[in-house]
Amino acid sequence: MKGIVLAGGLGSRLNPLTKVTNKHLLPVYNRPMIYFPIQALVDAGISEILIVTGGNSAGDFLRLLGNGKQFGLKHLDYTYQEGEGGIAAALSLAEYFADNDPICVILGDNIYEKPFRTSADDFKSRGRGAKIHLKKVQNPQRFGVPIISGDRIVKIEEKPKVPQSDYAVTGLYMYDPAVFEIIKTLKPSGRGELEITDVNNAYIQRGEMTYDIIDGWWSDAGTFDSLIRTNILVASQHEGNPEEMHQGVLQDSASILRAQ
Ligand code: DAU
Repeated sequence: MKGIVLAGGLGSRLNPLTKVTNKHLLPVYNRPMIYFPIQALVDAGISEILIVTGGNSAGDFLRLLGNGKQFGLKHLDYTYQEGEGGIAAALSLAEYFADNDPICVILGDNIYEKPFRTSADDFKSRGRGAKIHLKKVQNPQRFGVPIISGDRIVKIEEKPKVPQSDYAVTGLYMYDPAVFEIIKTLKPSGRGELEITDVNNAYIQRGEMTYDIIDGWWSDAGTFDSLIRTNILVASQHEGNPEEMHQGVLQDSASILRAQ
């Protein structure tokens, strides 16, 4: 299975932090944000990785990451997304790279506490259809939200005003090669983007969607509040200086956030 990190888009919700640099180069505690999704793919046993970047400072990714030596990789692939056509539009640029292999896609601003190797291995052995990863959240209206009947997902709604469950569809997706044909059939949504939720709904309609509930905390880092939340969660699990880290305000904030 090949891995794809989607790090395009303009990060406009983080303006002016993203006025001169790319959202995925901003710091999350002690590392640039993009380190986390790359490391997550590597921890899932994936070594062929494409980074889809875009917007400001695209050249800085190459300076920062090179061929991924810091992740134990021999090589990294890169491509560039013009504009902000949506997550599915960014993914469509990976068709040549996927070359008919199954893919594991992770959003560049999504950070997971625990590795997802078991889920990746399970999808690899099945090799067909699609798989998404859910997490219970307090504010589902900010995310893609599944409507669940029994143990089946019947539909996903993107940022619904009235969520039908308290789960978020997190930014980790596994697809068979049919995903690229599905993307070609999509129409832009109300916000003018090709939506990953529409891709997932197509798999649901075909009866080829499965899901896992993820272990540990999960956070996106695409808004001011979620960026600081992610910083606190990452800092609190940092092993460099546990005594200092596990005291005081940081530890208190982290336990409040974990309880959400
Ligand atoms: O964080 C999980 C959520 O991510 C899901 O629950 C939603 O279903 C999904 O639509 C997405 O929602 P957001 O509105 O938070 O997505 P955002 O526009 O912030 O984009 C997330 C990442 O996707 C971003 O860090 C980089 C990548 N992206 C996004 C766009 C719009 C691209 O590579 N190109 C793009 O054009």
